[in-house]
Amino acid sequence: MAQVHRIAVIGTGYVGLVSGTCFAEMGHQVICADRDEGKIARLQQGGMPIYEPGLKELVSSNLLAQRLSFTSLISDAIVESDIIFIAVGTPTEDNGDVDMTQVNSVIASIAAYSTTSKIIVMKSTVPVGTGRWVEEQLKSLVAAHLDMHVVSNPEFLREGSAIEDTFHPDRVVIGADHPEAGARIAALHAPLRTELLLTDRESAELIKYASNAFLAAKISFINEMAHVCEKVGANVGLVAKGMGLDRRIGPHFLNAGIGYGGSCFPKDTKAQLKLAQNVDYDFKILRSVIEVNHLQRERFVHKIEQAVGNLNGKQIAVLGLAFKPNTDDLRDAPALDIIAALKDRGAIVNAYDPVSTGHAARLLPEVNLLTDPYLALNEADAVVITTEWEDIRRLNWRLVRGLVKQPLIVDGRNIFEPEEMSRLGFTYVSIGRKTVALDMVTS
Ligand code: UDX
Repeated sequence: MAQVHRIAVIGTGYVGLVSGTCFAEMGHQVICADRDEGKIARLQQGGMPIYEPGLKELVSSNLLAQRLSFTSLISDAIVESDIIFIAVGTPTEDNGDVDMTQVNSVIASIAAYSTTSKIIVMKSTVPVGTGRWVEEQLKSLVAAHLDMHVVSNPEFLREGSAIEDTFHPDRVVIGADHPEAGARIAALHAPLRTELLLTDRESAELIKYASNAFLAAKISFINEMAHVCEKVGANVGLVAKGMGLDRRIGPHFLNAGIGYGGSCFPKDTKAQLKLAQNVDYDFKILRSVIEVNHLQRERFVHKIEQAVGNLNGKQIAVLGLAFKPNTDDLRDAPALDIIAALKDRGAIVNAYDPVSTGHAARLLPEVNLLTDPYLALNEADAVVITTEWEDIRRLNWRLVRGLVKQPLIVDGRNIFEPEEMSRLGFTYVSIGRKTVALDMVTS
């Protein structure tokens, strides 16, 4: 392999932990730092703070090979590295402003502990202009003989397939104003054999927001189409398929459902809208994307209400809590809002999720959280599907038919063919498709 770099990754959240582990797997010497001592202690023992397929195994083998280490002393990580990735949280405040507290604190540490020159790589999603500002800050704070170059390298990994996305990305974007620093970060990614797009820092920072905003727009667009489909008796799945076959459109991110959630789309769309406002631009499409996504959750609750009738005292089995499958992440998960609305209407909610019921208790204190889906389904007046987990698709639905009080499924993720569920004896309500009831089409 090419040169082995000494890399520090600051922040062991999703992005930091996955990126650091993957760089170690590529043969580099990686030290991951986080101020959360409990999390670091757990990681040092091979325990995982998040659920991500394949990550535990990759962390363990790299710990064993001594290419990967964890520390709660950020100073150690800074001293022992030439390249520092910043991967701390940048939450969005209610008004869309990005909270930069954690980034600022890392910058202060880099300034305080650097005794050699560094390349600082910004992985955290930050407002345009941050890279330039950080570099100016650092240069004013460290000794004059130290070089401090800040490079923007946004991440595009999806939870649930983060390792695959890291090793096989569609592209790697590197925004640098200093050509040598940009070239070193490009060389680091060369083994990934993918398109390396070298840009100025501002463009790289904006590519991240633009990509997420565009994907969110595709989702809101198809969700709006789903409503039109329901009105005219079309099938949104087929409409999306027909659209997606056009290579200019592409098949991805056209699954109608209950809208997007998670740690990125909701926060990044709001931040991008605010960013535009700050430069006196009203980004109308994006405003609608966000509004449609919000409405999608409300409309789904209305759909449940229409199907069940008065929800007061009704027992509702909610299947799926995470914002999407293969993750335990509940951040801005549509299921949380939907459950809250069901509770407001007096429903009794029994919820199942294959991995996140453990830490859902804090967020959903008045919900019966079950690790056995069949217990959640027992005597239910309606089954509501909110995450398209394979475990949920594969339940024995014939058995479920015998367990529930009312054979009614309201599916927010379109995981079944309507006719199939009708044949099993369910009334099946989904998104943007005809409702079927016991072998007959009702609307
Ligand atoms: C996203 C981006 O894909 C990734 O590039 C970025 O780095 C972080 O944000 P992630 O949040 O992990 O990744 O999930 P993603 O798979 O993109 O899904 C986001 C949300 O959109 C989920 O709630 C998902 O259910 C929803 N979605 C996605 C749809 O409703 N329909 C679709 O067709 C696709």
